[in-house]
Amino acid sequence: MTQVKVLSDKPALIAHALDLIVDKIHTTLDQQAQFTIALAGGSTPKPLYEALAQKSLPLEKIHIFWGDERYVPGDHPDSNQRMARQAWLDQVDFPTVNIHPMPTGRNDPSVDAQTHNQELQEFFGVKTGELPTFDIILLGMGDDGHTASLFPQTEALTVSDRLITVGNKDGQPRLTFTYPLINNARCVIFLVAGDNKRPALAEIFSPNGDETLYPAKAVKPQGELLWLLDEAAGAQLK
Ligand code: 6PG
Repeated sequence: MTQVKVLSDKPALIAHALDLIVDKIHTTLDQQAQFTIALAGGSTPKPLYEALAQKSLPLEKIHIFWGDERYVPGDHPDSNQRMARQAWLDQVDFPTVNIHPMPTGRNDPSVDAQTHNQELQEFFGVKTGELPTFDIILLGMGDDGHTASLFPQTEALTVSDRLITVGNKDGQPRLTFTYPLINNARCVIFLVAGDNKRPALAEIFSPNGDETLYPAKAVKPQGELLWLLDEAAGAQLK
């Protein structure tokens, strides 16, 4: 099921996403013992993470992952892990074992990608060829239509035999969830704000859009797909 919601501005988008996520955490934990969420990087979700830090949540039952990571140390200014820790995770009492960052320390992205692939298999108790199911995967979208670190016309778009692969942004390596892992989620939530995202959104919501040029278009989860847009990004889609 795909739903597109256009909110009046970015604060309204963040507030709506916050309510949605907090509600999903509670309803999911009524049914199962733990909740798994993969965080998006970039700048859009930072105020959402800051707002989540103000909420009283059953942190011991929530497990945090990332959908992609720049191939830099965890304390580097470009690190998605660092952003989420500063905005949320280090502001509250998360058990350390509940935070599962993408490893970037082996000086070889493909080795670290394989390591994280195994870490996910162990955590979710799945074998090679089986797919874990995240409760929520948060995604952003670049103005080129990329999502996670699945960039236009890159090899990562074609990887379907593993959970984690090496993405490539202008020659800079990144670790990223693959499409099969993303599309096996119970719920994928895109957070997209700003008029610079309009052209890519027009392509993604066009029947003729090219998925290799606009990779976010190929996100078609088995579960829910929610696009949360601000007016600046999504006015033409209303
Ligand atoms: C990253 C993100 C990336 C991001 C988009 C949108 O590591 O940068 O995972 O996919 O979500 O580039 O970024 P903004 O939210 O900053 O526009």
